[in-house]
Amino acid sequence: MGKKRVRVGLMGMGTVGTGVYRLIQGHQEDLLHQTGVEIEIAKILVQNKEKKRTIDINSDLLTADPYVVLHDPSIDVIVEVMGGVDETKEYVLHALQHGKHVITANKDLMALNGEELLNEAVKNGCDLFYEASVAGGIPILRALVEGFSSDRITKMIGIVNGTSNYILTKMSQDGASYEDALQEAQRLGYAESDPTADVGGLDAARKMSILSTLGFHVGMNLDDVTCKGMENVTIEDIKYAEKLGYRIKLIGIAKKDNDLIEVSVEPAMVKQSHPLASVNGVFNAVYVYGEAVGETMFYGPGAGELPTANAVVSDLVTVVKNMKLGVNGRGMVAPYNEKRLKSNDQIFAKYFMRLVVHDESGVLAKITKLLAEHNVSIEQVIQKPHQSIHKAELVIVTHVSSKSGINYVLQELEGLEHVDEIKSFYRVEGNGE
Ligand code: NAP
Ligand code: HSE
Repeated sequence: MGKKRVRVGLMGMGTVGTGVYRLIQGHQEDLLHQTGVEIEIAKILVQNKEKKRTIDINSDLLTADPYVVLHDPSIDVIVEVMGGVDETKEYVLHALQHGKHVITANKDLMALNGEELLNEAVKNGCDLFYEASVAGGIPILRALVEGFSSDRITKMIGIVNGTSNYILTKMSQDGASYEDALQEAQRLGYAESDPTADVGGLDAARKMSILSTLGFHVGMNLDDVTCKGMENVTIEDIKYAEKLGYRIKLIGIAKKDNDLIEVSVEPAMVKQSHPLASVNGVFNAVYVYGEAVGETMFYGPGAGELPTANAVVSDLVTVVKNMKLGVNGRGMVAPYNEKRLKSNDQIFAKYFMRLVVHDESGVLAKITKLLAEHNVSIEQVIQKPHQSIHKAELVIVTHVSSKSGINYVLQELEGLEHVDEIKSFYRVEGNGE
């Protein structure tokens, strides 16, 4: 590459776009030392050109027409930080087909269309990097692809949604309400434009689909990830968790046993001694177990302007270095393992359940008999009087049991005469099993 200058088309100037602008403008000299070229932001796509921005930008750079950016022949690299899927996919494909390298922070786009877009990139000799799409500021994708290239990963557990982790931390540490904590996360720019993806687990499921594709070398789809959100976690459950030595976290779990894979996102009780239990606020962490290396954990801010922008700009530096070496589009390894998903009777974990039952003789015996019938063995039971007269609150923690067994138990408990309500139910993780 004889170029002295690389021109970037920035598509989006919100939380992440603003950070990218700041880093490229503010770190020019470092970027020049590392890449040997000047990096210039040539055009910026926004929705509303008149909107007041938090930084001063030359208004001549702004456009509301994506094709002004995509059709500019002097632009070498597109940085997509606008979000969205259908329209954005069209723009990314267009960019790649016209020989422009692409960097995106968009996990929605990559979880749904990653395979197609990466193939298109390779076909056109372009780079397509997406480090910022998982766990914001943590360089986890590069760690999986490069750092674990000679290892076999068997387990990844991730706190990969900053918004939900922020809410759960505020609820448990400050006694904040769910609504107040969510509003605060939105104000700080952590939440997606529609925060139901954050609290409902979908955002984490997209990230786990990307992590398991790269970690297990299989073509995972979003549909392969079972997903439950954290909207129904209550302060009572958080208090029970504390008492029993756990913290409630929205975690993504990806495990591989004998080539069979399970991937889920759910609020779970995590043992307080496990390193993931101390990951608080907007911080994310991905715990990765490799057969050769053993336990590792990657920790850092999972969202926010500058941490996410740093991941984007690091991708940009890699693209520019590849341009100099003339190796763009050659680094991708397509998934090479067959995808074999576990059925529910092949998934094993401990479980926590909290029930309101009639406080009468024989009720506990009936419940324990039901559990035994489905091979669910009890590790711990706590019974407390309930505020309603003649009722009791029953908390059960099981030994490791199959997911199918526990599902049968829950189904039958629903119909059991002396059980009023299943208040809550969580997977329990971090006991070393
Ligand atoms: P954001 O604050 O909502 O900003 C989106 C930007 O894109 C805005 O500048 C908006 O223009 C522009 N835009 C949106 N739709 C457009 C359209 N159809 N045409 C033209 N411009 C459009 O979003 P963000 O938080 O920066 O997130 C951007 C991406 O990064 C998303 O994919 C998100 O999932 C991902 N991400 C975000 C974070 C984070 O911490 N926020 C972390 C990791 C990954 P206006 O400014 O004119 O409205
Ligand atoms: N909304 C996301 C989160 C942004 O809270 O983690 C980072 O992907």
